[in-house]
Amino acid sequence: MSFVSAIIPAAGYGLRLRKNIPKALVELNRKPLFIYPLEIISEYPQISEIILVVPADYIDLFKKKIKIYCVDKIKAVVAGGMIRQESVEKGLTYVRNETKWILIHDAVRPFINFKMISEVISSAKRYGAATLGVPVSATLKSIDNHQYVKKTLTRDSVWEIHTPQVFRKELIIKAHQKFKRCSFTDDAGMVEKLGVRVKVIRDSSFNIKITYPEDLFLAEAILKYRKRYGL
Ligand code: C5P
Repeated sequence: MSFVSAIIPAAGYGLRLRKNIPKALVELNRKPLFIYPLEIISEYPQISEIILVVPADYIDLFKKKIKIYCVDKIKAVVAGGMIRQESVEKGLTYVRNETKWILIHDAVRPFINFKMISEVISSAKRYGAATLGVPVSATLKSIDNHQYVKKTLTRDSVWEIHTPQVFRKELIIKAHQKFKRCSFTDDAGMVEKLGVRVKVIRDSSFNIKITYPEDLFLAEAILKYRKRYGL
């Protein structure tokens, strides 16, 4: 069995959420957001270690929460950077040598499950790089600085990209070394830039990222729905 190391970027301060604590520590049903994906990822058999990347001044608090919720397989809780890309880059330096595959998941996407993890890992093993995503249902337009429409995008080929994303270790390390001073918002984008094709697996629309205050209301509703239907 080839093991997978997980990197969980959780170092964002979440200014758009307008809370005075890092976004990953914000509670959903009295449990910090980052604990939700960690509980699932740590129980997934192929995951051998987890590296959690957090704001430097909150390392102890994150460690305390991990203890309270008894999350397993945490190899390190380390300080992140100014942007997400930098946080993942720092996390990559803690991955053990034997690892062949890296799974990267945003700490603020609480609603993942074994099926999603399994599908994205299997696809990465087949294609080298894979991500989850959903086709967009809205009409999308690109706009200029003055908020005039520049162009309407063809919806058929536009997907919203989620995490987890999984990559062959050498590939993701190479991408992070090559594009050090850029600011990619996801890791698949960096691998694409290397010229490598990334496979996209259809995800559940419930795998939302908590960004704005209203996302927390949506998350509460999803939580209730999942409890009611046993998902
Ligand atoms: O900012 P955004 O919502 O895109 O963040 C996605 C994930 O990246 C979050 O889990 C956040 O904590 C993490 N992040 C990070 N380091 C940063 C900024 C964001 O680890 N400097």
